[in-house]
Amino acid sequence: MKIAIVGLGYVGLPLAIQFARANVNVLGLDIDAGKVDLVNKGRSYIKHIAPETIAEVVRQKRLRASSDFRGVSEVEAVIICVPTPLSRNREPDISFVLETGQAIAPHLSRGALVVLESTTYPGTTDEDLRSVLEVGSGMKAGVDFHLAFSPEREDPANEQSKVKLIPKVVGGHTPACLERAVALYSKTIDKVVPVSSCRVAEATKLLENIFRSVNIALVNELKLVYGAMGIDIWEVIEAARTKDPFYLTWKAREYGQHTRFIELAGEINTRMPEHVVRAVADALNTQCKAIKGSKILILGLAYKPNVDDERESPSYALMKLLAERGAEVAYYDPYVPVIKPTREHPQFAGRKSVEWNRATITAFDLVLIATNHSSVDYHELGDWARCIVDTRNAMAGVHVSEGKVWKA
Ligand SMILES: NC(=O)c1ccc[n+]([C@@H]2O[C@H](COP(=O)([O-])OP(=O)(O)OC[C@H]3O[C@@H](n4cnc5c(N)ncnc54)[C@H](O)[C@@H]3O)[C@@H](O)[C@H]2O)c1
Repeated sequence: MKIAIVGLGYVGLPLAIQFARANVNVLGLDIDAGKVDLVNKGRSYIKHIAPETIAEVVRQKRLRASSDFRGVSEVEAVIICVPTPLSRNREPDISFVLETGQAIAPHLSRGALVVLESTTYPGTTDEDLRSVLEVGSGMKAGVDFHLAFSPEREDPANEQSKVKLIPKVVGGHTPACLERAVALYSKTIDKVVPVSSCRVAEATKLLENIFRSVNIALVNELKLVYGAMGIDIWEVIEAARTKDPFYLTWKAREYGQHTRFIELAGEINTRMPEHVVRAVADALNTQCKAIKGSKILILGLAYKPNVDDERESPSYALMKLLAERGAEVAYYDPYVPVIKPTREHPQFAGRKSVEWNRATITAFDLVLIATNHSSVDYHELGDWARCIVDTRNAMAGVHVSEGKVWKA
């Protein structure tokens, strides 16, 4: 069997390797010539994917990367894993998906299957993508070619998160489309969960994201309330963990108000950086310093520990807020040596992580722990830093002089 995977990023590359290991011939398509070149040389550009893993399947000729979409004419299935970011005014941007549809449509062979994996709103697959594919190919979805949606559930840095072991939800445009998509994923994924339509599959992924956002917001809100009461949220979390899983399970009836929940969760979460900046101001204040003119180091740029993905990270919001208030801001992140140009934060492009040594760290007035990578030596940090604001409880168990660490 021969398939194509479009978009060789955090989602597409591990998936391509997974299929290749199941003896499927994979053509990896990406518009980024740099990534294409690295894959074909058996080199990795994602921290948690070892180069040998790529090199092995490339050597066996199971995986080949290219920027030439004509190869689509030779495959039985195309899986799309391109980005679906939110625009500046937080509207979904599906332009990458539509561009991919336009690029593959002219080469699509009769009977081929197209599966979208990118996170998106219900209707994207059977309205937007379908229309682009039908216009570009002159064929009809569900009749001349098959169409399906299967949300990706990649969880970078989670050791257990092997693509093969994460159940795959699949929805088809027609029952025949579903059958084809289930057969495709069953070749290499242990458990495939069929649902009744593309829209249900799209909605499933959104529910997972919203559930997480609401839970994060709930803890954020309690962090503020407990903080005001002088109660340490981290101690509460540890204690609560000993009984049930920490987060609340929402009952179905509570979903009647779900857009209010979602918006409220978003509001609470996006306001957290301001709370952290206030904590930085308070910590500096005790040393008779202002944010303006202070040298502040952000520790951890990635959006969560032990990954190299920093695209949606709140660390950028922190850097921006502190810089606006006149701080001299730098960052340290072993996994993000240099900030790539992005649409959201063009002003930070090209900045480099500082070095990890006593002289560098001591030179900062304050170190703000934004992400707690486990490779960082927090004992050294406790020793070297003059003042620390810790938003992750990373300094728990590290002995430092009284008043040096501030939790936020
Ligand atoms: N990374 C995660 O942990 C994660 C988690 C949940 C959902 N997702 C979703 O998965 C999707 C992919 O995310 P990702 O993290 O893999 O993105 P990514 O940026 O790492 O990778 C996307 C790749 O697509 C390529 N690309 C863009 N436009 C293209 C086009 N027209 N043709 C061919 N290639 C193109 C880019 O060059 C890039 O290599 C998104 O919808 C995202 O929301 C990602």
